[in-house]
Amino acid sequence: MSNEFDVNGPIGIFDSGFGGLTVARAVIDLLPNEDIVYIGDTGRYPYGDKDPNDVREYARELAWSLVRDYNAKAIVVACNTAAAALPVHELEAELAADGLHIPVIGVIDPGAQSLVRATRSGTVGVIGTIGTIGSGAYDLAVSRASLGAPVKLVSAACPGFVEFVERGRTSGPEVTLLAQRMLAPIVEANVDALLLGCTHYPYLARVISDVVGLDVTLVSSADETAFALRDQLEHQHMLRKESDRSGQHTFMSSGDVSWFKALGTRLLGPELSNVDIWNKGN
Ligand code: DGL
Repeated sequence: MSNEFDVNGPIGIFDSGFGGLTVARAVIDLLPNEDIVYIGDTGRYPYGDKDPNDVREYARELAWSLVRDYNAKAIVVACNTAAAALPVHELEAELAADGLHIPVIGVIDPGAQSLVRATRSGTVGVIGTIGTIGSGAYDLAVSRASLGAPVKLVSAACPGFVEFVERGRTSGPEVTLLAQRMLAPIVEANVDALLLGCTHYPYLARVISDVVGLDVTLVSSADETAFALRDQLEHQHMLRKESDRSGQHTFMSSGDVSWFKALGTRLLGPELSNVDIWNKGN
């Protein structure tokens, strides 16, 4: 396999489903002339309560498919659970061992950096899936980001949030009830900034904000991840040259493609005009 990346290749983005569209939106807005290929692994979602070894394998398959089948010049792991199970530096090293020296960007470190910047009191929260919170990845990322400054991190897993988003239910009494239950430890801890440590959660931001209070700053990793991607591509001279072209956006799902198109258009916007089926090994 060639070790030359193609500067005109797309940016590959993946998630277990619709959540990574929050990151795709930020990437499209920041880098409008770049092509993107997005895979939502809705056929195997949710990742949050699966064995991390299985999630690790899924993440590998998706990343390799984006590189081998779609010529991706960079990978964005737009899923906290996948990045917690297969840290981005490990995935980057695996690709490099096969001669593919391409950047792999995750959501965990950009999110943690943004969280640390947002706090004034030094008491912050993170919410995510069982897999992400259980991995301890955010404890490490926040301590890296705080550079020794005392930051107290309170974590809460929120099983059920992702399922509501995947069904297109982003508000209503049942969502609020679940949010009140799941966010109780966060409310109790009196945090002043809360990181949405699952890429699905920005779609529930209104409900989450109502429950934790308007004085708590909600931090989403989507924009920070897009900035980290741009900086990395710039640094490695991998950005496309023609600034006046409009990027091509390809979306794929391993599950129900018509549902992915219907809900995806609502969540991401008009760029999601077509959805193809993604099969393992296609
Ligand atoms: N969007 C994924 C994340 O950021 C998780 C979703 C899932 O449980 O499948 O963790």
